[in-house]
Amino acid sequence: MRGRFISFEGIDGAGKSTHLDWYAERLREAGREVVLTREPGGTDLAEALRALLLGEAMDARTELLLMFAARQDHLERRVRPALAAGAWVVCDRFTDSTIAYQGAGREGSIERIRMLADWIHGDLWPDRTYLFDLPAEEALRRRSMARAADRFEAEDRGFFERVRAAYQAQAVAEPERFLVIDASQDIDRIRQLLAADCDKIR
Ligand code: TYD
Repeated sequence: MRGRFISFEGIDGAGKSTHLDWYAERLREAGREVVLTREPGGTDLAEALRALLLGEAMDARTELLLMFAARQDHLERRVRPALAAGAWVVCDRFTDSTIAYQGAGREGSIERIRMLADWIHGDLWPDRTYLFDLPAEEALRRRSMARAADRFEAEDRGFFERVRAAYQAQAVAEPERFLVIDASQDIDRIRQLLAADCDKIR
């Protein structure tokens, strides 16, 4: 039986990374084979592309195409084989990030992104997507305490307001796939919500 494909999404600083390891561990304890991975990244080639994407100045089209190049390699070499072998793939970001960041954030064509997504993985979308939702201003405050900004994190508040709004619109458009989590809640409450959902879908 094919495994499940789970993605975690949200604007930088919403705190999704805190919950990823915990969620994967919970699935393992329940006896599942779990592949915990991220985008851009997850394979040697895609991690090399990630370093370029987060560090090098480039135009918006190059950025979009490199995101999908990284995604194709990751899907081909890691995600698809794992799912076919029955593992659960828990992925830190996927194409919803591209729609939110390269589409809404950079004000690119969302239609073109959907075309690329259809080409690369029209047959494969996450079974469940957890969207960590937080106001852009609060996310910025959390980020500024945590670490130096990469190329995306250095964007202004307007950028992240567009990113957040695009995520919210995606969740409204696909209520079956998305579970929106109010990321301003405390960690224990968020874990309860994730645990309840995890038990429901596994
Ligand atoms: P992130 O996943 O937040 O990792 P970290 O917690 O280590 O900063 O960082 C990845 C960045 O890449 C994030 O700012 C969003 C961006 N990104 C896109 O712009 N488009 C995409 O399609 C993906 C997958 C990520």
